[in-house]
Order: sequence, then C-alpha cells, then structure tokens
Amino acid sequence: MNEVSQQILGRLSSASGFLSGAALSREFGMTRSAVWKHIRMLRSGGYGIEARSGRGYRLASMTGIPSGPEVESFLNTRAFGRELVWEEELLSTNTTARVLAVQGAAEGTVVVADRQTGGRGRLGRSWESAPKVNLYCSLVLRPRVPLQRIPQMTLLVAVAVHRALAEILPELSTAIKWPNDIYADGLKLAGVLCEMESEADCAHFVVVGIGINVNQESFPPHLSQSATSLKLASARSVSRPELLAAILNQFEPLYHAWCEADDLAFVLDYLERHAWLNGREVEVSRLHGKVSGRVAGLSALGELRVVGQDGSTHMIGSGEATLKQ
Ligand code: BTN
Repeated sequence: MNEVSQQILGRLSSASGFLSGAALSREFGMTRSAVWKHIRMLRSGGYGIEARSGRGYRLASMTGIPSGPEVESFLNTRAFGRELVWEEELLSTNTTARVLAVQGAAEGTVVVADRQTGGRGRLGRSWESAPKVNLYCSLVLRPRVPLQRIPQMTLLVAVAVHRALAEILPELSTAIKWPNDIYADGLKLAGVLCEMESEADCAHFVVVGIGINVNQESFPPHLSQSATSLKLASARSVSRPELLAAILNQFEPLYHAWCEADDLAFVLDYLERHAWLNGREVEVSRLHGKVSGRVAGLSALGELRVVGQDGSTHMIGSGEATLKQ
C-alpha cells in the first residue's frame, strides 16, 4: 500500500461516517478518479470500504493486520508506534529493529511481523511464531539512564502489557512472572526480550521485543503444557492492532516516568499485586549457580527476593525461576 492510500485510510478511519469523494479529492489534491483508484487499492488490501452514490466512502471493516494505519487508529501516543514498519515475514522483529536503530531510527519506532522465521526468546531460546494469529513486535528506545538500570525495563514492559491486557480483556486474569513473562491459567501467554547496544557506561539503544500468543488455537505438543493464548484463555478473539496500540499507549507514559525516576519504586505496588511467583517455592537458575526458596517479593531495582529454608534472603537480579514441585 502506498503512502497516499495509507493517508486516505487514516482519514476514513477517523471519520465517523461517510466522506464524499469530492471532499477527499479536495483534501488530497487529486481527481475523484484518482481517489477511486486508491479506494480500489485499499479494498484489494483487505479493507472493507463501502461506496454509496451521493454519500461517498465509509470504512466498514479493517483487515485485523497490525500494520501502520490500522494500529494508528487506536494510538494516543506522542512517539511510540508513530513510525511503524510492518512486514509479512521477518527473521526476527528484534533483528530488524536493531538494524533500523543502528541506521538512526527515531525513538518509538516499532517493527511488526505477521510471522518470524527465527523468533528469539531469552537465554538463547527460540520463540515459536505461528503465522498471522499472534503479535510479534519490537520497539526502538534510546533511554538516557545509567546502564545498570536497563534490565529494569523488562519488568516495566511487563507492566504495560499486563495493563493493556486488563483494558482489552477485563474478564481475563493474568499475572507477571518475574522477570519477563505474562501468565494466564498458570501457562505462558507472552514474553519480553530486551536487547541493547551499549558502550561501557551508556546504552546507545534498547530494542524491546514483545511476543504475545493472541488468537492461536492450538500449540505443538512440546508447548501445549506450558503455553496458552488470549483466545484459549478467554474464549474471545482479540484485535491485534488494538492490542498493540493499547500496549504502546500504556508503555509510553510509563517509560517516560521511569526515565525520570531512580528505579521501579513507582510501579512496585502494581508489580507486587500481579506477581505470579509471590509466595511460591522456586528454584532460580542464575549465571553462577542456583538458589532455592520462597519468593517474598521484589526490590525497587527489580530483584527477586527469595528466602531460603535457613532464613537467608537472596536478592536476585537476573535468572530463570521455576516452580518447585
Ligand atoms: C521470552 O519469553 O523468552 C521472550 C520472548 C520474546 C519474543 C518476541 S517476539 C517479537 C520479538 N522478536 C523476537 O525475535 N523476539 C521477540
């Protein structure tokens, strides 16, 4: 779809009813037959556009694809998602976002793909990316904060995703599993992967990757005991453009507040209220060894507080927590 078609789509989606061909041709400085050509292009791209003689055009249905114009119609951000690159297929949205960031992409640029052939998870894992049903997106950020604060971003993103889900599916109960997962019914619904490029003391940019199982109806055997989707957990289909916009709408103010803050204290209460691990017996694998105990909350720095059987408290900055059977 070309840029003018996108602009016409944007105009149609912000109109409350019909827009006349004459009004569109005036506004876009083109003939009415040129307007008609763009309408035909939008229709062939899957947009339902009603045409009535004497009244003009009305956007009757969107495609459900989380591409620029569709996401934009739900956005109320200043910068997040205002530049949006959508591709049908990418290796990994994080990889493409990284390339764009190196080339100077503006803060808030978002990359979305309908499928990933090499989606990545934390700790070198892969992220299964079923085509056309889920959300795979990455956001370019340039936070001017001390390098050691960057790992806190993962939990901040989790808060934004959790809030967006609560807004879109208020009946669905979800929880944040430290440090980067969203769970529903004890199964993984979404994951966050933050990657950065830095010098010794400052980050050049951070790529925030978010993968959410949205409308996937079944999982391969190796995931069926550990993964779920919004559709499976809520019995409702969710609009991916609306969900992406809701996440960006939630995340932008949180991100700016966090940049001004010293730590995560301002969202700690939220993180604690929705923490999946609180009170559970876990084993946490860290780079250097394992720690076992009961989870007793988080610190303002985003560390997991684990109390061992001998009463000793461990503050864990990064790792992978699994429930003890
Ligand atoms: C995890 O739970 O381990 C993190 C998963 C992150 C997956 C997302 S999908 C969009 C973005 N691109 C990737 O390759 N990974 C992230």
